[in-house]
Amino acid sequence: MLIEVSGLKKSYTTGTVKTEVLKGVDLKLGKGEIGVILGPSGSGKSTLMNIIGGVDRADSGRVTVDGTEVTRLSDEELTEYRRAEIGFVFQFYNLIPNLTVGENIEVVANISKSPLNIGAVLQAVEMQEKKDRFPRELSGGEQQRIAIARAIVKNPKLLLGDEPTGALDYQTSRSILRLLQQVNKEFGTTILLITHNTAIAAMANRVFKLRSGKIVEEWVNQEVVPAERIEW
Ligand SMILES: Nc1ncnc2c1ncn2[C@@H]1O[C@H](COP(=O)(O)OP(=O)(O)OP(=O)(O)O)[C@@H](O)[C@H]1O
Ligand SMILES: [Mg+2]
Repeated sequence: MLIEVSGLKKSYTTGTVKTEVLKGVDLKLGKGEIGVILGPSGSGKSTLMNIIGGVDRADSGRVTVDGTEVTRLSDEELTEYRRAEIGFVFQFYNLIPNLTVGENIEVVANISKSPLNIGAVLQAVEMQEKKDRFPRELSGGEQQRIAIARAIVKNPKLLLGDEPTGALDYQTSRSILRLLQQVNKEFGTTILLITHNTAIAAMANRVFKLRSGKIVEEWVNQEVVPAERIEW
């Protein structure tokens, strides 16, 4: 297993009100698999993903990623873990506005231990021709392609996507999903995605349904559907 989460709990306190956001979550995802987390707004999806990705901390329970016990890392170790092992893709692309597409990818490659070839990554996301453009000169779908290129160029063990198609239209969403599936195949990257869209679950190996901080349902897809065949 690449990801093993067990008994994960997390609460937030605002003022005097304490809210339990994760109430003992267990989840496993194998190396090279695609996992999808479904669940209504506020069910704790992003909180769970942020703890797995080392940007937030749990109150109790355990997260292990490729043998590293993430929940026991110091702050410095956690920063290094995020930098070396995790690629993040968000709903809004978070590109650096005053750097070109190529430079956006380069800055990440330059701080990585074993980066992928920038040309190969640009080719994988079909953006070679636009590498000298600035993010503002790209469509939303193109910006998301570059965000994915940035996340994968460092050759992460785990690619995390929090609603990566949330801001995109139907056709563009489908092309981004196809790209993610292709990245999974081509580079063997394990991928965990959050989505509101239950149709997207068909492209995953494992699906987890979160409700009020608990996994209420999970299943394994015996057959993974190619993203281009998913419709909603
Ligand atoms: N930093 C924080 N401080 C206080 N409460 C928080 C914080 N982050 C999240 N929460 C609360 O935790 C709950 C779960 O939030 P989370 O962002 O994990 O939900 P989600 O499933 O990702 O929802 P959405 O689909 O809307 O993105 C929500 O009730 C939210 O208000
Ligand atoms: Mg969220």
